[in-house]
Amino acid sequence: MSQPRLTLALSKGRLLEDSEPLLAKLGLAPAEGLDDRLLRLPSRDPDVQLLVIRPADVPTYVEYGAADFGIVGKDVLMEHGGEALYEPLDLGYGRCRLMVAAPRNRAPLPAFHRPRVATKYPEVARRHFAAQGEQVEIIKLYGSMELAPLVGLADCIVDLVDTGNTLRANGLEEIETIAQISARLVVNKAAMKMKHQAIRAWLDRFRAELGHA
Ligand code: PRP
Repeated sequence: MSQPRLTLALSKGRLLEDSEPLLAKLGLAPAEGLDDRLLRLPSRDPDVQLLVIRPADVPTYVEYGAADFGIVGKDVLMEHGGEALYEPLDLGYGRCRLMVAAPRNRAPLPAFHRPRVATKYPEVARRHFAAQGEQVEIIKLYGSMELAPLVGLADCIVDLVDTGNTLRANGLEEIETIAQISARLVVNKAAMKMKHQAIRAWLDRFRAELGHA
């Protein structure tokens, strides 16, 4: 059997679940269903194989051409730096906000105190506060950012907010929106040239399925 010409990188976890309806409509669902142990698997389209990888790794696989295209959250793209990839499509699902949040009843910070910001997105946070001329100390965490202000690890957090339930449950409030987030289709720059027709055709199919002109 011939090798698939294209490789699509998918973000394992919540975004993969959100992507399943679109993948199914496009004929790109995993041919034999998902299997946690399988990292590379055939899709229903013999021309496209799937990689199921950690969201934060999707931009890297696509940037280096190990995958021709990928589906990834805008939050992950912002943290990675999107310049090395094409980002032709907002897929419209996986919507949430990247926010600065802090304890509701916080005392004012002492003068000359450099606020500590706990986040999974150190680059985004650094750029955001630098653009505001604010000196902060960034503390990189890998999850459950909401805990950090409760235990004195940080003064505020930069994290994804969807319903706001996690913030409320932990006595935090939204301070500022950094960005609106949704799933994006990203494409390797070289593949866009070398596999132009195949990629173009897929972009048209994605657009048609999303109801874009
Ligand atoms: C995300 C995010 C918040 C929560 C927000 O975490 O980091 O903790 O969802 O959702 P809400 O506003 O609807 O409460 P996720 O569950 O993805 O796990 P994580 O902490 O490992 O990122």
